[in-house]
Amino acid sequence: MLDGKKTLFSGMQATGNITLGNYMGALKNWITLDEEYQCFYCVVDLHSITVRQDPAELRKRARTLLTLYIAAGLDPVKNCIYYQSHVSGHAELSWILNCFTYMGELNRMTQFKDKSAKHADNINAGLFTYPVLMAADILLFQSDVVPVGVDQKQHLEITRDIAERFNSIYGDVFTIPEPYIGKVGAKIMSLQDPTKKMSKSDENINASIYLMDDPDTIIRKFKRAVTDSDNQILYNDEKPGIKNLIDIYSVSTNKTIDEVVKEFDGVGYGDFKLAVGESVVSVLKPIQDKFAQLTKDKDYIDGIIKDNAEKANYFATKTLRKVQKKVGFPERVR
Ligand code: TRP
Repeated sequence: MLDGKKTLFSGMQATGNITLGNYMGALKNWITLDEEYQCFYCVVDLHSITVRQDPAELRKRARTLLTLYIAAGLDPVKNCIYYQSHVSGHAELSWILNCFTYMGELNRMTQFKDKSAKHADNINAGLFTYPVLMAADILLFQSDVVPVGVDQKQHLEITRDIAERFNSIYGDVFTIPEPYIGKVGAKIMSLQDPTKKMSKSDENINASIYLMDDPDTIIRKFKRAVTDSDNQILYNDEKPGIKNLIDIYSVSTNKTIDEVVKEFDGVGYGDFKLAVGESVVSVLKPIQDKFAQLTKDKDYIDGIIKDNAEKANYFATKTLRKVQKKVGFPERVR
């Protein structure tokens, strides 16, 4: 709870380009959350270096991501959108929490196992303690709720375990975070394999629509979308490709599934795919225009970055000082 509002925290990696799936499944639904929550959206660059990054590329992607969040409609004054590396409290709290986390717990993390298999030549200690840094992110802001996908559930669980352990020793220091269960966004699937989620790390670029794709690319990708061959636009699990396209069109146009199915009764797949593509273009075009405009206004974005880092730092320091005192660090002399 901060300033009388419940706190919502989310962290996002700036690796990979954000997709229509990220937008329709998450981002789009976050726009109005600032009415109910004090929202923090952190670009987690400390986490990113657990795998090797090209420095210039990382910096560029981080700025793109932050700008894109604003372009997509998050109000950067009401929402605190900031870089993790600008708030040293993340790293400081992470160290302390490392001392309250067991090797055995971290050893059980499935993401660590997956990532060490994928990056066998660089299984560094940061990769191992990644979940502790994530716990620090969340606990630093006394977060009440965290919107997480299934792949991050285990990390939220360990965050709760660490917080409860700490609280049981030192009293009520941390708010115990819950997964955010609000209006769930649409689950958008790959255009090339509609049984798989659309992913920014998909190697097949035709599988995903990126927020920055130009209209021609968007239309082309939809035309190539994998469907079935019975040429009927119906919404069911036997037709995952068509189902996915109906979902996308429904989100783009704010029409219900029934309305969409009726609208395309008797229409062929070719025309339907084109209509879906066009609906997505009309959703992404204003975001891209806003992005282009924001990118030109360097001073404005710089100002947001500075102000939000200060704001995040203010709240982070409050928690950090409390924790430092609890564990027995000497008080600062003013
Ligand atoms: N690990 C998350 C991911 O890869 C990103 C993340 C870092 C995060 N810190 C967080 C998500 C805190 C939610 C809350 O998606």
